[in-house]
Amino acid sequence: MNIILLGPPGAGKGTQARRLVEERGMVQLSTGDMLRAARTSGTEMGNKVAEVMDQGHLVTDEIVIGLIREHLSALKGAGAIFDGFPRTLAQADALEALLEDMGQRIDHVIEMRVEDEVLVGRITGRATCAQCGDVYHDVTRPIPTDGHCTTCGGTEFKRRADDNAESLRTRLLTYYKQTSPLVGYYHVKGTLRSIDALAEIGTVGDEIAAVLKEPE
Ligand code: AP5
Ligand code: ZN
Repeated sequence: MNIILLGPPGAGKGTQARRLVEERGMVQLSTGDMLRAARTSGTEMGNKVAEVMDQGHLVTDEIVIGLIREHLSALKGAGAIFDGFPRTLAQADALEALLEDMGQRIDHVIEMRVEDEVLVGRITGRATCAQCGDVYHDVTRPIPTDGHCTTCGGTEFKRRADDNAESLRTRLLTYYKQTSPLVGYYHVKGTLRSIDALAEIGTVGDEIAAVLKEPE
């Protein structure tokens, strides 16, 4: 099964993708994580990617589609959760073609709806385990008081360079301008389900599980 989690920055895509990985053994393909790995490489491409990400703009379709192509071929046909991809209509077309070549398709597109006002609080409160990538939040999912990550026991936590109010504004504008047209696109294709992602993390997970039970 291949699913897309679609939603603005802070909607909870990464949080829910990690739950699906744990609960169902699915594979998470996050272009944000792939790009953050690329930017640490110190290459010219990595440096360019870092600049674009920190400003809150989209990295070129060519780079992102190339990353997805590489990761998909490594999966050898196992189902995936696409987290933060596609983000443009060109990326959506490329994904469809890549899956078709593998005899696969997108089964469910889940739009995670959250009001913009809530996103600021979610983004500015986020901390990520440096070792395993588990996602915490100062208020809704605090780092345990013993300072150890629940998942891996790691003790180092990071804040993202693009998690500030200014970059978030650009990321939101970018979302509405370039990514939200995908909502209509997948609606017409019949694969879209919209869920209320304002609810507590476990409740959102239950809503996703209900969608995944529906016939594809
Ligand atoms: P990316 O890494 O994809 O970031 P994003 O889309 O901005 O999404 P986030 O990771 O910020 O949010 P999320 O929805 O995963 O929320 P999370 O679960 O962490 O992309 C970063 C950049 O890379 C882009 O700006 C772009 O430059 C580039 N890029 C990436 N993909 C690209 C592509 N395809 N094309 C071009 N460029 C691309 O949750 C957020 C916080 O809220 C956490 O602290 C969490 O604990 C908390 N939380 C989650 N759910 C809940 C809940 N239900 N209730 C309360 N708190 C919650
Ligand atoms: Zn960890």
